[in-house]
Amino acid sequence: MRIAVGSDHAAFDMKDPIIAFIRSLGHEVIDLGTNSDDRVDYPDYADLVARRVAAGEADRGVLLCGTGIGMALTADKVPGIRAAAIQTPEFAELFRAHNDGNVICLSGRFVSLETNEAVVRAFLETEHEGGRHALRVEKIMREDDPSFEGVQLG
Ligand code: RB5
Repeated sequence: MRIAVGSDHAAFDMKDPIIAFIRSLGHEVIDLGTNSDDRVDYPDYADLVARRVAAGEADRGVLLCGTGIGMALTADKVPGIRAAAIQTPEFAELFRAHNDGNVICLSGRFVSLETNEAVVRAFLETEHEGGRHALRVEKIMREDDPSFEGVQLG
């Protein structure tokens, strides 16, 4: 697969090792920066990666910041994106199997490289289960549609 990767300064030290790990799994990487530990704004890098994935120019996205949270908040606002901040391989597996997640957001400050590698492996190697989960993913994505007027239950 083709994987778009972006990071802010807070996770810059982990970006190159994560890129090397993704390549070691046989994937192509599009490195969208940042390229130093100078301060930058994480929403800029989340936007770059998320738009590549939404446009089909990348199959999946991997974002890194201090917590992963700001990247996830931003990337998830791009239509077509299902992004989450993930800290364990188990959650990464469920993020793919149940939610068909396409952008994973890692913490460079609070999660070790070893754990983030296991998270990335699970993200890249787990298939979406489909079935009842596919219907729920469709329901997630209707929130992207400006003409969707909201759920009426009962
Ligand atoms: C940058 O200091 C920090 O706010 C950022 O890396 C990230 O953790 C935001 O969610």
